[in-house]
Amino acid sequence: MTGAGRPGDSTKDVLLRVEGLTKGYPVRRTLGERIRRVPARRLMAVQNVSFEVRQREVMGIVGESGSGKTTLGRSLVRLVDPDEGTVLFDGVNVRAVDGSDLRRLRRRVQMVFQDPFTSLNPRMTVGAAILEAGKVHGLVETGRHDEFVSRHMERVGLTATLADRRPRQLSGGQRQRVAIARALAVGPDMIIADEPVSALDVSIQAQIINLFRDLQDRLGLTMIFIAHQLSVVSQVADTVAVMYMGRIVEHGTLEKVFGRPEHPYTQALLASRPDPNPRHKGDPPLRGDVPSPLDLPPGCKFATRCPFVEDECRQVEPALEGTEPRHLVACHVKPRPWEGGIS
Ligand SMILES: Nc1ncnc2c1ncn2[C@@H]1O[C@H](COP(=O)(O)OP(=O)(O)O)[C@@H](O)[C@H]1O
Ligand code: SF4
Ligand SMILES: [Mg+2]
Repeated sequence: MTGAGRPGDSTKDVLLRVEGLTKGYPVRRTLGERIRRVPARRLMAVQNVSFEVRQREVMGIVGESGSGKTTLGRSLVRLVDPDEGTVLFDGVNVRAVDGSDLRRLRRRVQMVFQDPFTSLNPRMTVGAAILEAGKVHGLVETGRHDEFVSRHMERVGLTATLADRRPRQLSGGQRQRVAIARALAVGPDMIIADEPVSALDVSIQAQIINLFRDLQDRLGLTMIFIAHQLSVVSQVADTVAVMYMGRIVEHGTLEKVFGRPEHPYTQALLASRPDPNPRHKGDPPLRGDVPSPLDLPPGCKFATRCPFVEDECRQVEPALEGTEPRHLVACHVKPRPWEGGIS
């Protein structure tokens, strides 16, 4: 497939280009399987995923738990090593770098995790953690340590008086702000945020989402924002990719994917949101069995749950193709009507 019409596509200002990314995890065999010499299997967490992210664009990734979002996000900075595919960040072949080049890449692409403890040392004060991040990359001027820390704390809405606290002495929201400050302290070009608000109370979620929006406006960050809640992604994303069983099944601008979804899975996700349009009340639209990721059916992976399934769906896996500019859908039967819309 050519890049034309891809949601993140542009000839000149693409920052991240991913082509055919695939990652499987080895599955341990049971004793019985080993005795019967059942061949080793791999659980394919991400399969043949391609997309592009432009400079200053926020790509949202949604999908149920287990759809491959985290594996995809981590593969982009080699926290997980992909099996196949290409990841080009600003022209750098991410899969080929190591040593100082890999460290440089990880400075330019910072991750923010669901659990801020992942990136914060519990024994270090938060001020020291922010300072350390800046120092490692030579971004702190001698004699200006306090100024560096307070500037980065204030940028994420924290008063500098909290700099002497340890992560455990802060609230969940404050801790996530510190993790964001630390990520920004190294001057990244891109942030990959993996469920950054999922562990927070709803009121705090809104504050952190606002912070991301504000930072994006002020700093012009390029971002991949992963969340299983559609409502969260709809508040920050310019484009949205919907994942199902390791595949992107729909990708396009926020308006198109959430406003006029074409893939039956996206439509079902939107219809089963907790705040549905009165027209959507009734039985949950998704019936049928979710296939085991270890034993995926041939053809469309959504066929076991899809109300529109046809014979072809069970045999041939649909490719992710453009139905109109900046809107790609992996479905044999399209476009289909959608009476909902984004609320
Ligand atoms: N380290 C791992 N080893 C084996 N299987 C894994 C590992 N990490 C994730 N998986 C499996 O890969 C699939 C995708 O997981 P993940 O990328 O965490 O999805 P998501 O973030 O959307 O929940 C799941 O079936 C999960 O159980
Ligand atoms: S390809 Fe077929 S089974 Fe898959 S989503 Fe489209 S209509 Fe449903
Ligand atoms: Mg995850």
